[in-house]
Amino acid sequence: MKLKHFLKISDFTKTQLLQVLDMSNSLKTSHREKKLKQSLSGKSLVMIFDKPSTRTRLSFEIGMQELGGIAVVLQSRDTQLGRGEPIEDAAKVISRMCDIIMIRTFDQKSVESFSNHSCVPVINGLTNEHHPCQILADVFTFMEYRGTIENRKVTWIGDLNNMCFSWVEASSILDFKLNISCPPALKKNFVSSILPTARNCTFFDDPFEACENSDLVTTDVWTSMGYEDEEDKRKKLFGKWSVTKDKIENAARDCLFMHCLPAHRGEEVSAEVIDGPRSVVWDEAENRLHVQKALIEFLLLGRYN
Ligand code: CP
Ligand code: NVA
Repeated sequence: MKLKHFLKISDFTKTQLLQVLDMSNSLKTSHREKKLKQSLSGKSLVMIFDKPSTRTRLSFEIGMQELGGIAVVLQSRDTQLGRGEPIEDAAKVISRMCDIIMIRTFDQKSVESFSNHSCVPVINGLTNEHHPCQILADVFTFMEYRGTIENRKVTWIGDLNNMCFSWVEASSILDFKLNISCPPALKKNFVSSILPTARNCTFFDDPFEACENSDLVTTDVWTSMGYEDEEDKRKKLFGKWSVTKDKIENAARDCLFMHCLPAHRGEEVSAEVIDGPRSVVWDEAENRLHVQKALIEFLLLGRYN
């Protein structure tokens, strides 16, 4: 079987993404009915973390165990990688000892280098530039509630970060509209770097206007991991880009709200929105478990074109 990695949403075609989402649905049903098969028996996942995690670590680790496999967690600071071992050497060694690898790190280039020297599939568990597993879970959650995401309108409010980049890629591939509203000062660099893939995106200076008639409003922290030095500056910059009740009321009547978590109530989202009736954040978090099981089955057991 041809070696395939999942480093960003655009590594998969629309058919492949829909196949993983379809498999996620079956796996979620089997999970509910307690009828999961041991499809990953004898398989091992190694996870490498350069940044903290709750959801990613738990969902991958428990997911592997539920399907009969094992998961090993490496905090890179405790490994030779943390002491400067070349990433290419680490990739060659680690990939000879397991069946699949997940990495959470800083630069996208690092996961790319790692994957270029790995003899097993590599999954991006978050970099500064992409968070593709979370977007799989978010799209899956939307489809659970609304059937399809095609031709729907999603609005992203806030930082132009890893989550936003992955939404941009998903909108082009899965054919939905993506409104983006961020402080205008951020827009210039972002637009020039992603414009070629942003064919379904519309930028708004006004976050209230961006939400109009949206089927999904979503946001994320103003300060992502690795940018902590900028926290004070960012709090001032993003003040107007908080998802508050008035913005949700400007969206479609049955609009959903998502946030990848962890969230800061009173900053990027108000408590009444994240804890309110339109919020599906707990389903979204649970769905990491189901979509990643599907992703691992897809990469290890085949079923892609
Ligand atoms: N959403 C997400 O990736 O959460 P963790 O940082 O807890 O893994
Ligand atoms: N954008 C956030 C997502 C956390 C899951 C970060 O990178 O810190």
